[in-house]
Amino acid sequence: MKNLIIAPSVLACDFLNIGSEVQMLNESSADWIHIDVMDGVFVPNISFGIPIIKYINKHTLKPLDVHLMIVQPERYIKDFKNVGANILTVHIEASTHLHSTLQAIKQEGMKAGVAINPHTAVELLEPTLEETDLVCIMSVNPGFGGQAFIEGTYRKVEKLKSMIVKAGLDTKIEIDGGVTSKNARKLIHCGADVLVAGSFVFKTDDPTKTIADLKKI
Ligand code: DX5
Ligand code: ZN
Repeated sequence: MKNLIIAPSVLACDFLNIGSEVQMLNESSADWIHIDVMDGVFVPNISFGIPIIKYINKHTLKPLDVHLMIVQPERYIKDFKNVGANILTVHIEASTHLHSTLQAIKQEGMKAGVAINPHTAVELLEPTLEETDLVCIMSVNPGFGGQAFIEGTYRKVEKLKSMIVKAGLDTKIEIDGGVTSKNARKLIHCGADVLVAGSFVFKTDDPTKTIADLKKI
């Protein structure tokens, strides 16, 4: 049985009480903390940036899975490393020189991720797959939490999984957006290794139990 990674997204947490939200994650069976950085240009929303991540990093030992929804992400690789990012994910649609960006992320000692929008074909990931530690398949259009899961995601996961197997790589597949206990099982069956969950975790009465339940799937 493979080890499923659960990465709650703090985008859906209570920001007024972010300290206790992070503490809850520390005490939960969450594997990573997913952090969504939005610039209002690549996506039509602005979330938060470097100082918040620095603060989260100070209060957790869990790996920080930083998802950059920003244009020209290569400008900030060192900055995110300095505030504790362990996995740094850039969008294929926002990276003009993706291959060198992935190399630069790895040179900083971080895992390199590539995120892909719902409309982008997974075949486009093939030339850089060897440099990619993680592919983040967006199962909603990036920019907001709490959206409905796009059903076409399953087929993309299957396709990508067979590309990875064929190439003999161990690139992880992460699913981001609208993940719930309803679609988790099928996603894992199709080849998902990491499930990001924002609203499904933070908008429940008992987030710790919701994380534990996802982890058991
Ligand atoms: C969307 C973000 C997601 C978001 C997921 O642009 O990348 O990580 O926080 O939130 P839910 O799980 O609520 O769809
Ligand atoms: Zn995300």
